[in-house]
Amino acid sequence: MKTLTVHLPGRDYDIRIERGLLSRAGELCREVLPKARRLAVVTDSNVGPLYAGKLGESLNAAGFEARGFTLPAGEPSKCAPALEQLWEGFAHFGLTRTDAVIALGGGVVGDLAGFAAATFLRGVDFVQIPTTLLAQVDSSVGGKVAIDLQHGKNLAGAFWQPKLVLMDPDTLDTLPDATFADGMAEVIKYGCILDEPFFDFLAQRPGRAEITTEIEHVLYTCCDLKRIVVEEDERDTGKRMLLNFGHTLGHAYELAGNYQTWTHGQAVAAGMVQAAALGERWGITPAGTGARIAALTAAFGLPETIPCTAEQYDAAVGLDKKGTGADITLILLEKLGKAVPHKMPKAQLLEELK
Ligand SMILES: NC(=O)c1ccc[n+]([C@@H]2O[C@H](COP(=O)([O-])OP(=O)(O)OC[C@H]3O[C@@H](n4cnc5c(N)ncnc54)[C@H](O)[C@@H]3O)[C@@H](O)[C@H]2O)c1
Ligand SMILES: [Zn+2]
Repeated sequence: MKTLTVHLPGRDYDIRIERGLLSRAGELCREVLPKARRLAVVTDSNVGPLYAGKLGESLNAAGFEARGFTLPAGEPSKCAPALEQLWEGFAHFGLTRTDAVIALGGGVVGDLAGFAAATFLRGVDFVQIPTTLLAQVDSSVGGKVAIDLQHGKNLAGAFWQPKLVLMDPDTLDTLPDATFADGMAEVIKYGCILDEPFFDFLAQRPGRAEITTEIEHVLYTCCDLKRIVVEEDERDTGKRMLLNFGHTLGHAYELAGNYQTWTHGQAVAAGMVQAAALGERWGITPAGTGARIAALTAAFGLPETIPCTAEQYDAAVGLDKKGTGADITLILLEKLGKAVPHKMPKAQLLEELK
């Protein structure tokens, strides 16, 4: 088993990575939740039928009373009505301050269940069992939990760190290729911004089967890189910004496709290639960097470019959270493995994108 400890003031917790871990979840949860009796297991309509049974058995064997709360799969479940449904369900179940919530699923379930845990009884313990590649390398690490509002994604939320994160790479076997590829966009991002040898490692394994052979190393490396960034910047005021590489332009592509045509990973992949191209044009990024990124993302079926009009760029750049007034901070690559923030006037960026 690979174990990583995230060190945050007064709230250290472990991330454990091992094939088959799901069937040992009970004993591992017991170690960090010595007093808990009831566990609310939040999952979705795809993941529940696949994995909730095995998890429930393991939790029961460790002496917990586990109850499943299953939401319809998909982003629309990350909403206020679903949150209220969970609160009422937890209350009905008799969940107390010494009990805990478990998120079994992708980023949607993790964000929603985490926010429910952060707010129920002013905060109960929380364990993440992420089952998508994106959730394992990204959303389950860092403590951000949220729901979407009519006005936009992730607009209501909290920072709520888990007591434990359990990653069973075997759960990824049932992911559709497109969902696996979505997670790969974030995996490749880590190599681009922080770790050139890791980028090269991935480039030598250009396909799902090749990555799966080395999946524990891939998960460990990504979580370790995110851990380092999060430990330095728990509240997202500085270094976490680097994780935004590919995301400013990616958000424009998601918007251009009305959040239907392109997945987040597809948009981020094209956003990374485009950000590298801009960096190359401005003499900040070495020539050929964009092509290296594009070759790797293409190996997972991710697009190199996404059509986007000037108006769509304008709308997305205007909404960008990382912007302050007239300026925007775009993340560029000084080289593969080293990202730098680049502050510039929004108007200039929009001009360059025409
Ligand atoms: N909190 C953070 O720091 C953070 C970071 C990045 C993304 N996010 C959030 O994460 C969400 C996206 O996460 P996601 O891509 O995991 O989406 P998701 O949770 O919707 O999962 C994608 C799909 O895969 C299915 N699925 C999950 N695990 C499966 C498995 N093992 N086998 C088969 N199917 C499975 C789900 O039912 C769903 O249909 C977004 O809401 C995003 O805002 C949060
Ligand atoms: Zn992302």
